[in-house]
Amino acid sequence: MSATVQKLFNFANSRHRRARLRNMLEIQLNKWTAGERPGDGKAASFEEFLAASPPRLRALLQPGGEAEAAVREVRGGFEEAAAARGPLPFPAFFNADVSFAQLSYALARSLGCETAVESGVGYGVTSALILLAMERNSRGRLISIDLPALSDPHGQSIGLAVPDRLRARWQLHSGSTRQHLPRILNGTAPICFFVSDSANIFTMQRYEFETAWPHIRRGGGALFNNISAKFQQYLSGTEGVVVHCIRQVEKSKSVSALVLK
Ligand SMILES: C[S@@+](CC[C@H](N)C(=O)[O-])C[C@H]1O[C@@H](n2cnc3c(N)ncnc32)[C@H](O)[C@@H]1O
Repeated sequence: MSATVQKLFNFANSRHRRARLRNMLEIQLNKWTAGERPGDGKAASFEEFLAASPPRLRALLQPGGEAEAAVREVRGGFEEAAAARGPLPFPAFFNADVSFAQLSYALARSLGCETAVESGVGYGVTSALILLAMERNSRGRLISIDLPALSDPHGQSIGLAVPDRLRARWQLHSGSTRQHLPRILNGTAPICFFVSDSANIFTMQRYEFETAWPHIRRGGGALFNNISAKFQQYLSGTEGVVVHCIRQVEKSKSVSALVLK
């Protein structure tokens, strides 16, 4: 069976058909209307961000620091798990850029998170890093949402990078962020950290920001992967937020947005 026929078959048999259809249409629409990424000069380099960041975050993120070692550990664990699993259903290219991965760890660690929420798990590099930070803080739980890729319709490889010992702090919901996020947030005390790495499109990031922001406690923050120029404009026109746009290191066309409350 060709890959396209297999995907059509997976779609027809998926329990998330409506959510997938909406997601596919939304992704296509965003390609036409909001596909442009922030250009050169529109984001700080990782080094520039580091120089301007608070001392605790800077210490964690400095070259050779704790965040770098955490990313190395999680990536090593992912490679071992992937080798044991055999052929992967989607490319490891979708794993977080090193700077996004380090930020996920360092923010969860420095905020001393009680509850963090994440959209978009994939193989779970960012999930594992947030959970590792929580293990080291001896507190915290992570609630994640993932609409599995059509190449892995039952989500068998979702969270492959998350070691068993970290899973007690983890709750994973299968489905779209639009389906689960409001209910999860309404049933949870204010959260300290929201990480967005689902479809990486303008309308979804704006939806996730507008849904999560009222539930983020003062002093907390939200981190968005691979923002569009339109989302950057939207954030800069939003009152009451401190926004840092940071160019990624391995995926240099991508920009992360860190929004602090
Ligand atoms: C880029 S991957 C996440 C990578 C992960 N953060 C990491 O570092 O390993 C994006 C994931 O989000 C899922 N996804 C796509 N659209 C979604 C949606 N609307 N709601 C929830 N998850 C979604 C994809 O299927 C994929 O598993």
